[in-house]
Amino acid sequence: MSLRLGDIAPNFKAKTTEGEIDFYEYLGDSWGVLFSHPADYTPVCTTELGKTALLKNEFAARNVKVLAVSVDPLDKHMGWRNDINETQNCTVDFPIIADEDKTVANLYGMIHPNASETFTVRSLFVIGPDKKVKLTLTYPASTGRNFHEVLRVIDSLQLTAKYSVATPADWQQGEDVIVVPAVSTEDAMKKFEKGVKIIKPYLRYTPQPDID
Ligand code: BEZ
Repeated sequence: MSLRLGDIAPNFKAKTTEGEIDFYEYLGDSWGVLFSHPADYTPVCTTELGKTALLKNEFAARNVKVLAVSVDPLDKHMGWRNDINETQNCTVDFPIIADEDKTVANLYGMIHPNASETFTVRSLFVIGPDKKVKLTLTYPASTGRNFHEVLRVIDSLQLTAKYSVATPADWQQGEDVIVVPAVSTEDAMKKFEKGVKIIKPYLRYTPQPDID
């Protein structure tokens, strides 16, 4: 059975490019992004890990720790990391897990046998500080992921964890958000001091509450 939203993200110990880690200890109280790629020394994967490294400050600003994983061995990860740094003008300093025995891949359902019996697909999990799965994404080997979208979802997850709001389609930081249906309009008027715009009784907007 694959992991679903709200499930506890399983813990594991693993060899990585940053040394041996215990996943939960590594995450501590942070949010986590655990993402698999099919194989080292492949072009799309090279751009994905490079992009993640270039977004290091964006992940840090959101208190997110990232980890990559594939079934390649550690020495291969080490050599490929040099190529990523060289070609993508970055410094990969997040752990790349060497999951040769497929422990992590199996725990997280990252191998989809009808796509490949051997390699992990492009799975991505966002894990909250409570160690629960907040987002799952699965992309095929031929399509690189959009890491700005991952950051956008994390912004939404962190905002909606704090306030009784949801974010509309294509929402970006600073745009109006939606008052969740569980809050009555009367309560919303009291709760959201910046005001509530009522389009329909079930479609109500308020300015993003955590910014001026
Ligand atoms: C890539 O990263 O470019 C890739 C990996 C596996 C299959 C196809 C593409």
